Amino acid sequence: MNKLERVLAADLAAREASMPLARAQMSGRVWAALLAARSDASQAVPDPLWSPDEFAAWSLYSPLLGLGDGRPFLFAQVGQSLDGRVATPAGESRDVSGRDGLIHLHRCRALADAVIVGVGTALADDPRLTVRLADGDNPARIVIDPSGRLDDGATVFRDDGCRRIVVQACGRDRPAGVEIVRLPAHDGCMDAGAVAAALHDLGLRRVLIEGGGTTIGRFLDAGLVNRLHVGIAPLIIGAGRSGLTMRPPTRLAEAQRPRTRVFCLGGDVIFDCAFGTG
Ligand SMILES: NC(=O)c1ccc[n+]([C@@H]2O[C@H](COP(=O)([O-])OP(=O)(O)OC[C@H]3O[C@@H](n4cnc5c(N)ncnc54)[C@H](OP(=O)(O)O)[C@@H]3O)[C@@H](O)[C@H]2O)c1
Repeated sequence: MNKLERVLAADLAAREASMPLARAQMSGRVWAALLAARSDASQAVPDPLWSPDEFAAWSLYSPLLGLGDGRPFLFAQVGQSLDGRVATPAGESRDVSGRDGLIHLHRCRALADAVIVGVGTALADDPRLTVRLADGDNPARIVIDPSGRLDDGATVFRDDGCRRIVVQACGRDRPAGVEIVRLPAHDGCMDAGAVAAALHDLGLRRVLIEGGGTTIGRFLDAGLVNRLHVGIAPLIIGAGRSGLTMRPPTRLAEAQRPRTRVFCLGGDVIFDCAFGTG
């Protein structure tokens, strides 16, 4: 780190310490800087001329640009209601996050090499997993489908030039061009660490776990998530799928307590949670 970078890092730490609830305002110049830093980590330096709100946007997204050591840097995001739901009991989920929350999700995709969904999400939503509400490249698409429940016609498998990867325990064939990672399952569960290691072997260094709650929970239970963004939209659903499904602690004292910062992003609030050194 040279002298200027040290001064900027100290400035960054001081500004972060003074913003318990920051309003993040993404601008073209901050997003351009984040995309540059995505390609070359040495470019990950904020500009002192940015406004406090632009600086908050940088501060929200730049930690997602980490690189894992021997496994991908894993970050996850959930867009949920005030009562922690991501879908109604009937499975309707598309408008839980407001438009700002959706743009946030697309930014997260644009910063990742690859995006993971569980087969529950692939079946419920048939998502495209592309970047449409931000500038940036589409990530590779990964589905965890241990027993081969997803139809070959699913949108995630569509051949649009992106890598498509399925992680499975079964011997099912997949559409041409879809890469298959085969891992053992015990009681239907594949070891999340083995999934992460396999993705690293495929050259993926920065991976977004988009959902759903079961899939994120498996990686959280294994202590593999570096960063988690929980976006909260101001609506109450009352019942339905919960944002995170994890192994319950025996006592409240054993609950995970990540280091957390809070950002206002338009109409949504984002809790930025850091685990370990992430
Ligand atoms: N608002 C948001 O941010 C957001 C984002 C994404 C999804 N969603 C919503 O979330 C809901 C789906 O979530 P969900 O929790 O039911 O399902 P999910 O997490 O999408 O998928 C869970 C399934 O994926 C497979 N899986 C994932 N990790 C595995 C592992 N380590 N080992 C073995 N299998 C693994 C299992 O498949 P098998 O069951 O075949 O064993 C598991 O049951 C949908 O309603 C969707 O709309 C919301």
